[in-house]
Amino acid sequence: MIQPLVVDTVAGLRAQVGQWRRDGLRVAMVPTMGALHEGHLSLVRMAREKAERCVVSIFVNPTQFAPSEDLDKYPRQLSRDLDLLASAGADLAFTPDVSEMYRAGFATKITVGGPSAGLESDFRPTFFDGVAIVVAKLLLQAAPDCAVFGEKDYQQLCVVRQLCRDLDLPVEIIGAPTVRDAHGLAMSSRNAYLGEAELEIARQFNVILRKTATALTSGADPNGATAEARLALLAIGFRKVDYVEARASLTLAPWRHGSAGRLLAAAWLGNTRLIDNVEVPAA
Ligand code: PAF
Repeated sequence: MIQPLVVDTVAGLRAQVGQWRRDGLRVAMVPTMGALHEGHLSLVRMAREKAERCVVSIFVNPTQFAPSEDLDKYPRQLSRDLDLLASAGADLAFTPDVSEMYRAGFATKITVGGPSAGLESDFRPTFFDGVAIVVAKLLLQAAPDCAVFGEKDYQQLCVVRQLCRDLDLPVEIIGAPTVRDAHGLAMSSRNAYLGEAELEIARQFNVILRKTATALTSGADPNGATAEARLALLAIGFRKVDYVEARASLTLAPWRHGSAGRLLAAAWLGNTRLIDNVEVPAA
């Protein structure tokens, strides 16, 4: 297994990507915050299918964490991540530190409208500003031909598409399907916080969402069906449900019967916040 080249400066990243470009190679990027799991590796494999070279960034981005969130606790395991990246065929790991990404005096903000409204923003009001600034920076730094983002963070994927369209960033954004365990639980770095009993409950999350999506496609009233889903999550042991909402799959505007939709949810198991989403097929 060949270890990816590890680069921790923007200048080093640009030099290597520039060389690949001069060699006529297509470059894909997968932005991550590390603590890699099978979900990330599926993004890397997809990136490798779309391009001859794959850059993976590993950067726990402080600007997308609110002061009350798990920035310090967020798992950091670089040498394990590099082994996993080698197994998935990544060519370069970009591992800047905070001062490389946000130099002293950093003062720029990006606020994306449209799909960022509601859902995560109702509970994490500064989250998408943090994601937008770091994704814009990473895409400008690496200048890849395409970048792969997971559908697991479905609202984030829609926000990134909006950002790139609005800023004319010359990069193709590719959405990759959520990787799930044998029980349908979406892979997430935060699953590492769950004990065995909590994992059992977490595995019902997607089951309840899929059942609700089927009911919606069959004509159920969206308010009634999502309220039922919230009650079902609380009944099996989720401590708090932030939202369960059906939205239009491209714009994230409120969903209407007969159109393609997405059912998105966030809920707390103990102190761990899980998010998931499933397709609501048009009837
Ligand atoms: O999805 C993530 O891991 C992060 O939000 C991202 C896109 C890498 C930006 O920090």
